[in-house]
Amino acid sequence: MSANLDWGNLGFGYIKTPLRYVSNFKDGKWDDGAMTDNDQITLTECAGVLQYAQTAFEGLKAYTTEHGKIVTFRPDLNAERMTESAKRLEMPVFPKERFLEAVDKVVAANRDYVPPYGSGATLYIRPYMFGSSAVIGVKPAQEYQFRMFATPVGPYFKGGVKPLTIRVSDFDRAAPHGTGHIKAGLNYAMSLHAIVDAHEKGFDENMYLDPGTRTYVEETGGANFLFVTKDGKIVTPKSDSILPSITRRSLCYVAEKYLGLTVEHRPVKFSEVKDFAECGLCGTAAVISPVGKINDHGKEICFPSGMNEMGKITKKLYDTLTGIQMGRIEAPEGWIREIK
Ligand code: PLP
Ligand code: COI
Repeated sequence: MSANLDWGNLGFGYIKTPLRYVSNFKDGKWDDGAMTDNDQITLTECAGVLQYAQTAFEGLKAYTTEHGKIVTFRPDLNAERMTESAKRLEMPVFPKERFLEAVDKVVAANRDYVPPYGSGATLYIRPYMFGSSAVIGVKPAQEYQFRMFATPVGPYFKGGVKPLTIRVSDFDRAAPHGTGHIKAGLNYAMSLHAIVDAHEKGFDENMYLDPGTRTYVEETGGANFLFVTKDGKIVTPKSDSILPSITRRSLCYVAEKYLGLTVEHRPVKFSEVKDFAECGLCGTAAVISPVGKINDHGKEICFPSGMNEMGKITKKLYDTLTGIQMGRIEAPEGWIREIK
């Protein structure tokens, strides 16, 4: 039976659900893993995650489709990205097949918390991994824990699809040749001061520029950029220090194959941004959230799409992607994984 929640009014917050998945890595191998109702973690005071931030995570969603099925969207890509994160942080890889099984189990075990079709809410799934044994010299832990929980969520940005105002940040979220391309917890710790400061000044998010030269567009704290040119082309920034967003990659495929648009994935100079017609932030949490205005140290870039509604092409992309996720539009082969 569906949980008794006000699905239409959920924010993007944590609500404890009944069951989560846990597996431990010890003596060079992962144990069998199990579901547990225990949401608490007890660790040594000297755990690798607590001392040197040895942790990475993922984020994906489960949806109820128009036909009442429960599905996840491209979880194989989350498993693959987590592999890259683990390798870069000297953590053991959690095998892809086991990652996918864990997603299935966590969603199935909490199926009453998968928001109903049409409610605007989804079940957000958070896989993560951390060094759990003691380290005091700077080196990787010997033991790790992999966990996955789920929580029902509403829109990431308050106001749902209302255009956002963002600002060009003077702080960086990643270093050249650093960890910007993986989903390391440390990248988000880096961004906390910048986001608190942005919110205090009335902005919804930060636009980070490349940390080396501050002349190219990178991404925001939790989403990639997607721009639309005045002649209807899609442009997405390419950089070694941004997270390869699964949503962005999916939207580019949709743009090309479903909407017949031209897509360019290339370095994007900040000086070009004023000439674009539309701008969106894409990510699992953000879906595609329209940007109406960018503030560059007091100078405003206002997109022609305005502050009241999504740009026309952004809206088409949004409708097609969410249509695929919710089962209204046929998905490309392998994008949708049904939970039995
Ligand atoms: N960029 C950053 C920094 C993120 O945290 C996220 C969220 O996962 C994204 C981009 C979007 O990635 P995805 O579409 O895979 O969720
Ligand atoms: C996601 O979109 O899944 C993320 O991890 C972004 C995060 C800022 C909530």
